[in-house]
Amino acid sequence: MRRILVTGAGGQIGAELVPALRERYGPDRVVASDVRVPRSGAEPTAVRFETIDCTHLREIEGAVARHDVGTIYHLAALLSAVAEDKPRVAWEVNLGSLYRVLEVARQHGCAVFFPSSIGAFGPSTPRDRTPQDTLQRPTTMYGITKVAGELLCDYYATRFGLDTRGLRLPGLVSHVAPPGGGTTDWAVEIFTHAVRHRRYTCFVRPDSRLDLMYMPDAIRAMIELMEAPAARLRHRNAFNVTAVSASPEDLAGEIRAHLPDFEIDYEVDPLRQAIADSWPRSVDDSAARAEWGFQPRYDLASMTRDMLEQLGKKLRAAR
Ligand SMILES: NC(=O)c1ccc[n+]([C@@H]2O[C@H](COP(=O)([O-])OP(=O)(O)OC[C@H]3O[C@@H](n4cnc5c(N)ncnc54)[C@H](O)[C@@H]3O)[C@@H](O)[C@H]2O)c1
Repeated sequence: MRRILVTGAGGQIGAELVPALRERYGPDRVVASDVRVPRSGAEPTAVRFETIDCTHLREIEGAVARHDVGTIYHLAALLSAVAEDKPRVAWEVNLGSLYRVLEVARQHGCAVFFPSSIGAFGPSTPRDRTPQDTLQRPTTMYGITKVAGELLCDYYATRFGLDTRGLRLPGLVSHVAPPGGGTTDWAVEIFTHAVRHRRYTCFVRPDSRLDLMYMPDAIRAMIELMEAPAARLRHRNAFNVTAVSASPEDLAGEIRAHLPDFEIDYEVDPLRQAIADSWPRSVDDSAARAEWGFQPRYDLASMTRDMLEQLGKKLRAAR
């Protein structure tokens, strides 16, 4: 069995995807990599780790050859708010690195997982029950790199027969690693601030409704998609997936069911608000459900309960 390489493994998703893959396929089968060296002690020395800058083809190729890699989960990217701040770097990292990963995959016969986003849609896309196949004219650099990435993955699949697969992920809620500068970071911060300070100042309006998903559902979805029989997949590279459609005031209300003294106020950041306003409020994920059986397990209530429980445990352990 060939190994799995995870790029950008030091981020919010990688922090939970790498342990999940190691648990499922064995510690030796998974190579974590990032441009940042992990904090000392974060990666046990017995497990495989490579420092890879994905904008350098030779670094990706060297690791793929050295570890006999057969599947690449390509997570390295700049997230939406950071990409808007540094559009040139975002183009190079988000699209340039995907192109290089696909080239290496073509030469070495690797399958590739590409995480697209609800940011791949734009203001002219229907915002409610956004269809799987619809207009995609994003107005952010992040969204532009995600649509182009979806198309590039389709191209490598049809032109070269590469096994490329992907999800349009919504905002992910998690408690292991902090979010990396996206438009839905508020959906993580609201929990950490609620547990620590009982109050949160949110950077988008109270009614900014977007799709969200709890990280365990997202990790399971990535692995299940990569394991799904290829013959069943019609939309290989850009499956809409969602679990929860919620606004800051919905999350605040749900948190108050557990922490009645929680308070929220708003200082709207125009840049991130404009990005949020250009994204869908909820997507239609029926293609993912039909083609490979996608089924999230967490709704707003169970995600909130688990987040508060896990963060509470962490806080008590730290004291
Ligand atoms: N987290 C979400 O809510 C979400 C939602 C939709 C899509 N996604 C996508 O999932 C992927 C991973 O997201 P995340 O939340 O873990 O992001 P993150 O910002 O937390 O982590 C990204 C990682 O990529 C690394 N990186 C940056 N430039 C690199 C380079 N040149 N070479 C190698 N590594 C590099 C960073 O060091 C970081 O550890 C991204 O493609 C993102 O667009 C995330």
